[in-house]
Amino acid sequence: MPFEKKILCIGAGYVGGPTMSMIAKKCPQYQVKIVDINEARIAAWNSGDLPVYEPGLKEVVESVRGKNLFFGTDIEASIKEADIIFVSVNTPTKTFGEGAGRASDLQYLEKTTRSILAASDSGKIVVEKSTLPVRTAESMERILNGNNKGIHFEIVSNPEFLAEGTAIADLEKPDRVLIGGHQSDEGEKAVEEVAKIYANWVPHERIITTNLWSSELSKLAANAFLAQRISSVNSLSALCEKSGANIDEIAGAIGKDSRIGSKFLKASIGFGGSCFKKDILNLVYLCERYGLPEVAAYWESVVKINEWQTTRSVKRVLRSLLDTIVGKKVAIFGFAFKSDTNDTRESPAHLVVRELLDERAVPVITDYKALPDAKRDLADVLDKVQFTEDPYSAAFESHAVLLCTEWKQYAELDWEKIYASMTKPALVFDGRNILDHDKLRKIGFEVMGIGKA
Ligand code: UDX
Ligand code: ADP
Repeated sequence: MPFEKKILCIGAGYVGGPTMSMIAKKCPQYQVKIVDINEARIAAWNSGDLPVYEPGLKEVVESVRGKNLFFGTDIEASIKEADIIFVSVNTPTKTFGEGAGRASDLQYLEKTTRSILAASDSGKIVVEKSTLPVRTAESMERILNGNNKGIHFEIVSNPEFLAEGTAIADLEKPDRVLIGGHQSDEGEKAVEEVAKIYANWVPHERIITTNLWSSELSKLAANAFLAQRISSVNSLSALCEKSGANIDEIAGAIGKDSRIGSKFLKASIGFGGSCFKKDILNLVYLCERYGLPEVAAYWESVVKINEWQTTRSVKRVLRSLLDTIVGKKVAIFGFAFKSDTNDTRESPAHLVVRELLDERAVPVITDYKALPDAKRDLADVLDKVQFTEDPYSAAFESHAVLLCTEWKQYAELDWEKIYASMTKPALVFDGRNILDHDKLRKIGFEVMGIGKA
């Protein structure tokens, strides 16, 4: 039986890979293809060792790969045959020129847009999946529809809200699917086409349609709001440490207010990930560009507090280790930006390691999934850092353990054994507040957490 529709996704990363695998699983009547310029990444998607670690992902991929899900590098031919093209290439923060450090670097998106035009001989629906600045669709349209081939492309925005570590569950049961398009007949038809894909498994009332610009900006707004909650709670964690209040108790108390809600109130060493910082800085840049410096400053403070939270944590550890950690072994428990992922982008642990190296300590890093990425991130200092998959070896003869990622396995370790092997006085800095501090103190550890006296 021929496939009812051919869906293509350009960019086989953390967003494109899991999202398209779920579409393939839920829509056996569609052919779903994912292409990428990175041959090694595609080879990994076609192997038993996927390039993205995500609980449940392997099972989904293996159930549909070769049936209606395909990974390849034949970008041109795949574009030609596709009906709907999702664009899921990376849009990192610009590191050069105007807007450096804030604006999105749209060069990959632009290249992709140009290759869509070059390879197409019929009109298509092009879906923005990557997070983008508001009005990016306008630039894509200028490229795509300024053609002399007599074909028309319709741009639709369909931002992805999945969180890493829970991607499969988020995709299976999304809070909402947002689809934005032009308010014209063709725009509405394109939105309907995209909505039809999700309607295969997402209840009708969870599929929201808006205008194109609202959809683009909603993604930035959602991430800014989520990050803002963490920065708010982290800012108060510092006050708790001075005043004897306990930030976890405060989060519990205020989270019970249904107007506030209990999620995203967990104080931590800082938020990481590829989205929050990048998207907020992008928002800041947009506000500045549109002449709204007060709004820009408001959102920028969310990022500033986050960095301060991480660096002040390292200072607390330094003070507790008698203001010198030169040559001291310090174990870093967790390098991924959160648990259940191998992703280390903007991980607070990375900043912690850099700060420790500035103080000439010897960081020993352990993680359950992220050591390959950690080695890549620290390629310039590999001679000064150690890595081990075993948390017990990481802690061996160290002066302190700094827990940076909330892997739940850390709470289940034999902490008596760890204590026995460490240099005394042995310090545990619980940067995620997941350990039993009373129990650790009874063993003999000095214990520091976030937002606790
Ligand atoms: C985020 C958004 O949640 C998701 O909707 C969007 O599509 C992409 O960005 P992600 O970055 O994958 O997802 O993970 P998330 O669960 O949001 O965590 C981000 C960071 O915040 C992590 O470092 C996490 O440890 C930290 N965090 C989260 C806290 O410190 N405290 C909290 O209460 C929640
Ligand atoms: P995200 O977290 O948004 O999914 P990633 O960096 O994990 O971002 O993935 C983006 C993917 O897009 C990368 O695998 C990259 O190789 C791919 N990519 C970038 N530019 C192009 C392009 N012009 N054509 C095809 N793939 C591209």
